[in-house]
Amino acid sequence: GTGHAGSRSRAGASGDLAKKKTFPALYHLFDQGFIQSGEVHIFGYARSNLSDDGLRERIRGYLKGAPEEDLSEFLQLIKYVSGSYDNGDGFGKLNKAISEYEASSKSESYRRLFYLALPPSVYPSVCKMIRTYCMNPSSHPGWTRVIVEKPFGKDLDSAEELSAQLGELFEEHQLYRIDHYLGKELVQNLLVLRFANRLFLPLWNRDNIDNIQIVFREDFGTEGRGGYFDQYGIIRDIIQNHLLQVFCLVAMEKPVSLKPEHIRDEKVKVLQSVNPINIEEVVLGQYDGYKDDPTVPDDSNTPTFASVVLRVHNERWEGVPFILKAGKALNSRKAEVRVQFKDVPGDIFKCKKQGRNEFVIRLQPSEAMYVKLTVKKPGLEMATEQSELDLSYGMRYQNVKIPEAYERLILDTIRGDQQHFVRRDELKAAWQIFTPLLHDIDDGKLKAVPYQPGSRGPKEADELSARVGYVQTHGY
Ligand code: BG6
Repeated sequence: GTGHAGSRSRAGASGDLAKKKTFPALYHLFDQGFIQSGEVHIFGYARSNLSDDGLRERIRGYLKGAPEEDLSEFLQLIKYVSGSYDNGDGFGKLNKAISEYEASSKSESYRRLFYLALPPSVYPSVCKMIRTYCMNPSSHPGWTRVIVEKPFGKDLDSAEELSAQLGELFEEHQLYRIDHYLGKELVQNLLVLRFANRLFLPLWNRDNIDNIQIVFREDFGTEGRGGYFDQYGIIRDIIQNHLLQVFCLVAMEKPVSLKPEHIRDEKVKVLQSVNPINIEEVVLGQYDGYKDDPTVPDDSNTPTFASVVLRVHNERWEGVPFILKAGKALNSRKAEVRVQFKDVPGDIFKCKKQGRNEFVIRLQPSEAMYVKLTVKKPGLEMATEQSELDLSYGMRYQNVKIPEAYERLILDTIRGDQQHFVRRDELKAAWQIFTPLLHDIDDGKLKAVPYQPGSRGPKEADELSARVGYVQTHGY
């Protein structure tokens, strides 16, 4: 469906998300022995009329380069059931197929995981169908879990309505709201960095940090997804979920323990400390050419770029701006967190102009973290320059394969670990921050300024960052 996926007509097991992410993730789990034949079976469900082999051949096409022997073993785990998203026939067939498999398997416990790679408009009906036709029969030990993909609503009210609808069908512990940024290696590392390093503990506050930027850039536009994207825009597509989750991990207090509920409690608290966004601290952009997509209306004001300032009202962060910025069709593909420290008081080296200390965590591509330091320029003179303490994963962990986000999150779901999934109250708090702004944008009170594809985005965004305190140094 949506997420990474293409147009709405190609959803479900034959859709784009399934192709780019879900099946490759399942294959990698299989390849590493986390999914084993005899224990796991995969049922694809979608509207298209396909045979088992038809689906298998498609999946083969998504997994180019996989060794043939593994691949054919993996493909044997897959079956296909076709049906619509809102009537019992298809889901009855699905249940029958699952039950037959379960009856033939040696396992005592029946575990059913449903992955909804679908447009959210069909979530309530699909969940109702699953609830009515496909639940793990209560006569058996086991469980039923459901993974859902964003967007979870369009604003606070619609999100609450969706939550209430799903909440009537499933318990919170059965619902896995996926935000794939939480499956990224360096996002997961934030918790460790923050709370396992004495070096950062005393510095991580308003006394030492001037501002924090959380930035997402993509060097391609909405290609083929204009119809979906235009209804949501960059704030709902990236900022309100992916960047806000990163924000939580950067800004939250130390959880009582690593229990998923303790971590999610802290996220909710920090989100509740953020005021709704002040429209004076927002820049919206739309790249030239976005409206050439025939599925995008000619008068669209939907932002493909946005920069917004979050203000956190608590003891740790009062006065420190968090700049969340995301854009499509920019000059590079990169996601990073930049923690900028304050100037050194008493600048005896007269080096202030060279820049401040910055701690940069690059989430992708080429995972890395580095600290920008002022050092003596090697040589006879007492001159200074900016350099880095650099931990690049490609160098330090040369032989380690970093798992894909979806791989990790599907495994978490199988294991029943909800730490890296969004809880209902967290979702609500997230929408509270953005809803007034989103309504102003929808009402046309804020206009997106045009920018050139392949550029840094609107210059107004750099001006906004500078206005709230960010000092740009070399090598942005
Ligand atoms: C998805 C968005 O959630 O994340 C897409 O819907 C975006 O618009 C994608 O391209 C980015 O994910 P990643 O992992 O490539 O940074």
